[in-house]
Amino acid sequence: MCGIVAYIGSKPALPILMKGLKRLEYRGYDSAGIGVLNSDSASIETVKVVGEIRGLDNKIKEAGTTQNSSLGISHTRWATHGEPTETNAHPHLSVGGKIAVVHNGIIENYAAIKKILLSEGVEFVSETDTEVIAHWVSRFYKGDLGEAVLEALKSLEGAFGLAIICRDEPDTLIGARRGSPMALGLGDDEIFLTSDISAVIEHTRKIVYLEDNDVVKVNRAGFTIQSIENRRTVSREMQQIESGLEIAQKGDFPHFMLKEIFEQPEALRNCTRGRLLLGDGNAKLAGLDSSLRELRSIDRIIITACGTSYYASMVGEYLIEEWAGIPVEVEYASEFRYRNPIIGTNTLVITVSQSGETADTLAALKEAKQKGATVLSICNVVGSTIARASDGGVYLHAGAEIGVASTKAFTAQVVVLSLIALLLGRQRRLSHAQGIEIANAINSLPNLVEQTLKLNDEVLAIANCYYNSTNFLYLGRHYNYPVAMEGALKLKEISYIHAEGYPAAEIKHGPIALIDENMPVVVVAPKDALFDKIVSNARAIKARGGKLIVVTTSDCSPIDEFADHIIHIPAANPALTPVIASVPLQLLAYHIAVLRGNDVDMPRNLTKSVMVE
Ligand code: M6R
Repeated sequence: MCGIVAYIGSKPALPILMKGLKRLEYRGYDSAGIGVLNSDSASIETVKVVGEIRGLDNKIKEAGTTQNSSLGISHTRWATHGEPTETNAHPHLSVGGKIAVVHNGIIENYAAIKKILLSEGVEFVSETDTEVIAHWVSRFYKGDLGEAVLEALKSLEGAFGLAIICRDEPDTLIGARRGSPMALGLGDDEIFLTSDISAVIEHTRKIVYLEDNDVVKVNRAGFTIQSIENRRTVSREMQQIESGLEIAQKGDFPHFMLKEIFEQPEALRNCTRGRLLLGDGNAKLAGLDSSLRELRSIDRIIITACGTSYYASMVGEYLIEEWAGIPVEVEYASEFRYRNPIIGTNTLVITVSQSGETADTLAALKEAKQKGATVLSICNVVGSTIARASDGGVYLHAGAEIGVASTKAFTAQVVVLSLIALLLGRQRRLSHAQGIEIANAINSLPNLVEQTLKLNDEVLAIANCYYNSTNFLYLGRHYNYPVAMEGALKLKEISYIHAEGYPAAEIKHGPIALIDENMPVVVVAPKDALFDKIVSNARAIKARGGKLIVVTTSDCSPIDEFADHIIHIPAANPALTPVIASVPLQLLAYHIAVLRGNDVDMPRNLTKSVMVE
C-alpha cells in the first residue's frame, strides 16, 4: 500500500526522505509528498506531486524547500479516500499548519469525526480520511504532541500507520501503529520511522518494530513507546537485521518484474537450500521443528490467502492431499475472515502471503487464532506482521520482490508448499522410496526453471502476435488449473487485457461461447495423466476458430498438429509442473504489457501490499 519514511537527527532530512521514498515507491505510486520543519520560520513546508517520486524531486528544487531541516516526514500514496490529486496527497496539515500527518491505512469512522470537526468550524481541503487525523490531533493539542496523539487516537477506528510532526516541537517525531506496520531504525544520533524497513536499511540495521496500539515519541536523544489503550510505557525489543534485505536494484534488466522472473532459479535454490533431506526423502523446515508432533495429529488443513498467493495455495492443496492424504480447503482470506469457519481441534490453518502484510490475510489469521487454531504462515518478508503473528512458519527466502506482479514469490510459494506436503506425507503415507523421488524432483526445479527461461525469445514472438487482443482465456487441468488462473491474473494486472482462467473441461459449460478467431487461448497441457483429456478440450477450441497457444512438454503429439503456437517446457514431476509451466506465462504477460507500452513494475490502480480491506 502506501509507504512512510520519517527522520529526526542531525543530518539534512530531505535527501534521506527522498531516497527512502524511492525504495518504497512500488508500494504506492499515484502521488507523493514530504513535510519538513523549517525551524527558522517555525513552519512545516510541504511539497506534493501527483505521479512518481522523481516529479517530487524537481518540485522540491523549484519550491526552494529548506535544505537544512533535520526533521521531516514523507509518504508515497495508493489512493483509498479521494482521487490521486496533489490536494489529497500526504502530508495533511491541521488548520494553520501546526500539525502534519502522513498515514497508511483507513480510518473507518472518519465520517463521524469529520462531522464533529465540521460542526466546530474546521474547514477541510481534501477528500481524505487522513486530513481528519491532522485536525483531530490538533483539537487535543495543548503543548505536547505525544499526549495529543495518544488522546486523539483513542477514538479512531480502523487501521493506521502514522508519522506526525508539529510546528512548535522541533525535537519531536511521533509514530503510531494499529493494523499497519511501522518500525523505528536506530542510528547514531538519528532515528528513522518507516512503514517498511527496506527504506532505512542502508542507514541502520537496528530495528524496533512497533506493535498494534503503540504510540512512539521520538526525539534526538531516544524514544519512548506508550500504549494507546492504557498509556502505559511498553518496551519493544531491538532486532539486529543481519541480511536478506539487501537493496533491490534492477541491474541490467529494464524492469524489476523481468529481473525477478529471471531470478527464479536462484530464488528457488535459496528457498530449498538446507531444507531437502535427499537421502531420507524428506524435508526439514526449521520453522516447523517445534510443531512436528502436533503436525502428526492434524486431520484437516485450511489454507487462506489472496491473489497470486491464493493460486499458489491451490497448488498446495493438490500436493498435500496427494502426498499426505490430509483434506485441504483453500479459501480467499477476504471471505474466510467474515464467514464463521469451522475449525476443529486438529485443524491446521496456513496463511500464505508474500508481503506478510495483506490486511485480509492478517484478519483471517486472527480469526483462525481466535477459534483456537494453530496457524503457520508462508511469507517472503522476514519479520512481517503475518510472520510474527503466526505460531510457526516457513520463509520463502526468495529475496525482495519489488515488481507489483508477483512472479518469483509464486514459484517459491509452490516450492515451500511442496516441502510441507513432503514432510506431512512422510509422517503419513509416503514411503521412503516415494519420498526420495519427490525430494529429488523438488531439488531439480531450479535447473528446470533455468532451462525454461531460455524460451524467452519464443514467448516474445508469440506476444508480438497477440498484444492487441482484448480478451484471453487460460486453461489447465488438475495441478495446472491454478497455473491457468495465475497466468490470467498476471496478464490482467500488467497488460489490462481481460483474461480468465478456467479448468479446461469447464469451458464446455459456458465459456466456449466466447471462442472465435479473436480469442487467444493459452492451454497448459503437459504430457501427464490428463493429457488426452485436455487435448480434446483444445480441439473443441480449435474447431471454433480460437487461437491456441499451448504450453506442453516434448512428445506432445497430437496437440502440435493443430495448435497455433507450442511452447515446449522441460518435463518435471507432474505434481511440480506448475513451477515450470508458470514461467512462460509470466514472460507472456510481461512482453504483452511492455509491447502495449505499460509500466509493468507499477501497473495502474495496484500496489504491492494491500494493507486495506
Ligand atoms: O503479499 P500477498 O502475497 O499477501 O499479496 C496477495 C495479493 O495481493 C498479491 O498476490 C497480488 O495478487 C499480486 N499483485 C499478484 O501479482
